[in-house]
Amino acid sequence: MKKTVLVSGGAGFIGSHVTVELIEAGYEVVVADNFSNCDRTCFEGVKKITGRDDIPFEEMDFCDAEAVDKLFGKYHIDAVIHFAAFKAVGESVAKPLMYYKNNLLSFMNVLEAAQKHGGCNVLFSSSATVYGEPKSVPVTEDTPRQPAMSPYGNTKTMCEDILQDTVKASDGLIKGILLRYFNPIGAHPSALIGELPRGVPNNLVPFITQTAIGKRECLSIFGNDYPTPDGTCQRDYIDIVDLAKAHVFAVTRMIEGKMKEPCEVFNVGTGRPVSVLELVNAFEKVNNLKLNYKFAARRPGDVTAIWADPTKANTEMGWKATRTVEETLKAAWAWEKHIAGK
Ligand code: UFG
Repeated sequence: MKKTVLVSGGAGFIGSHVTVELIEAGYEVVVADNFSNCDRTCFEGVKKITGRDDIPFEEMDFCDAEAVDKLFGKYHIDAVIHFAAFKAVGESVAKPLMYYKNNLLSFMNVLEAAQKHGGCNVLFSSSATVYGEPKSVPVTEDTPRQPAMSPYGNTKTMCEDILQDTVKASDGLIKGILLRYFNPIGAHPSALIGELPRGVPNNLVPFITQTAIGKRECLSIFGNDYPTPDGTCQRDYIDIVDLAKAHVFAVTRMIEGKMKEPCEVFNVGTGRPVSVLELVNAFEKVNNLKLNYKFAARRPGDVTAIWADPTKANTEMGWKATRTVEETLKAAWAWEKHIAGK
């Protein structure tokens, strides 16, 4: 019988790509979302890509404990992947309580319901943000976490701890995996799903594609005086489909009982540092266009350089990022053209 995976926040950017990969790997998926930060386009795209018009869908808010409890009663859930959370760093500084309430409560409701309904495998979507400004790069899973630079980042650190503690106290009922994402970018090669930022994008790649299509006038590169080879910040940009596949490996590892510890942590990155300027140049080259950009002041809170040592995920989970930055930037551009109707 097919195993069932619940994807909270499954209509969003990462959730929709993960849903596709899970279905293609033979899992039954229950998608739950309240569309608070995404529209219905991506879920429709998921149905088209998978040829499945009947994916179980629940429109709900994970802060509603009763609704979460009902959900776990309605389906037999073998694993849950929790994405339902707010994710804008700047907004979290302005509205900390909104972030703490939403991101912590929704996750605690999931864990409580999972426990009440007989236990579950729980995958939490964490972030490289927990490493802060690392003392050395690349970072392994043993690199110490640093105090978070924003309430958003703090919710990631806190949810990691909440899961670790819950697993410890659960007598084997709850097993957990924390995936620490580096910088997910790109879109599905079909161009039917991708990132749909609301308003002005905070993240680099949507800003690049929106500038290229003419929605934004000019990209500001935040800082060119960092102690890096070309003076711009370095990140580990990971293709969204590669990232989504890491979830399939992690879920399978949990369901097949292959975990070595009841709560495991994995970096999900490529191990390849790319600077902002290198990324902009690669985008121009691979898509054969010129981007209007300028150098601007540093953005407060940015770390100079961070990239993953993905050895643990490569060897333990058997997952490895396969796509080149060029392939990913082509897909990002195809998606931008798709949403612009071009
Ligand atoms: N950048 C620009 N111009 C822009 C946008 C970004 O130069 O218009 C630069 C940033 O300064 C940074 C790089 O592009 O050097 C990447 O920026 P993103 O905002 O795309 O990504 P971050 O590395 O800042 O953010 C990631 C995740 C967040 C997480 C954060 C914590 O997307 O979820 O790391 O460091 F909180």
